[in-house]
Amino acid sequence: MAGSLIWISGASSGLGQALAAAIPWEGSRLISISRRAPDGMEHLEADLSDPSSWPRVGASFREEIKETDADRVIFVHAAGTVEPMGFAGEVDDGAYLANVVLNSAAPQVLGHLFLKAAQSIEASRHLIMITSGAAHSTYAGWSSYGAGKAAIDQWVRNVGAEQALRGGVQVMAVAPGTVDTGMQAHLRDTDEADFPKRQKFLDLHQAGKLSDPHEVAAKIWGLLDQDLDNGSVIDLRDLE
Ligand SMILES: NC(=O)c1ccc[n+]([C@@H]2O[C@H](COP(=O)([O-])OP(=O)(O)OC[C@H]3O[C@@H](n4cnc5c(N)ncnc54)[C@H](OP(=O)(O)O)[C@@H]3O)[C@@H](O)[C@H]2O)c1
Repeated sequence: MAGSLIWISGASSGLGQALAAAIPWEGSRLISISRRAPDGMEHLEADLSDPSSWPRVGASFREEIKETDADRVIFVHAAGTVEPMGFAGEVDDGAYLANVVLNSAAPQVLGHLFLKAAQSIEASRHLIMITSGAAHSTYAGWSSYGAGKAAIDQWVRNVGAEQALRGGVQVMAVAPGTVDTGMQAHLRDTDEADFPKRQKFLDLHQAGKLSDPHEVAAKIWGLLDQDLDNGSVIDLRDLE
């Protein structure tokens, strides 16, 4: 067996793109999943806020894993959105629904599909969910974003406990800290009425305190070499 087979959702920009660029193993095959196709990557086009796209992702997991001789199989779920920024009860209904589906439901269902596809192979298998400190800090304007990240954290704890009993896939959630990506630029551009803590992010940016996505990506890949409890929920800032 040789090489790695890796899916990254959200590899078309920001942290997902940096993770794709920083894959530490020679001979890796990467399949990106997002709406936009990143240059030079094998790509599965999917709007993950639409559940009808999920079976195609599941089929990709199933079919590629069945064929692979890779000794490492990984799914990193980095796709996420803060759109629409604003208060529940005020924002657009359709945009709110899309946020809830993408941030809360898609990680659980896609994670389930990956586990099912990967359950009976000998390769080492890893499922990494990108979460956020917003899972447990209060931010007006981020109701469904924070709720989605909290859902990821608890899903990972429970599924990690399951995989420790049987299954053997290493599952973790990783909060990357504040990273210099398009998402951060978008926060800075948002009206303070819709996101009252906006100034905190303007200050972090001005003080040069946003993390470099490539450094963050290298730290995330480095977690796979550590002996972590299955179901760990990690904030990279706690490791500094
Ligand atoms: N930046 C930070 O400070 C920070 C902090 C904590 C956590 N995070 C988390 O890190 C992850 C990456 O965020 P980022 O900062 O890199 O943001 P970003 O630059 O906005 O990237 C978001 C990625 O998610 C994908 N995505 C968004 N909506 C999608 C949809 N409906 N279907 C499929 N893919 C979709 C986008 O691809 P397409 O637009 O091509 O579909 C893009 O590749 C997110 O889960 C975010 O919550 C970021």
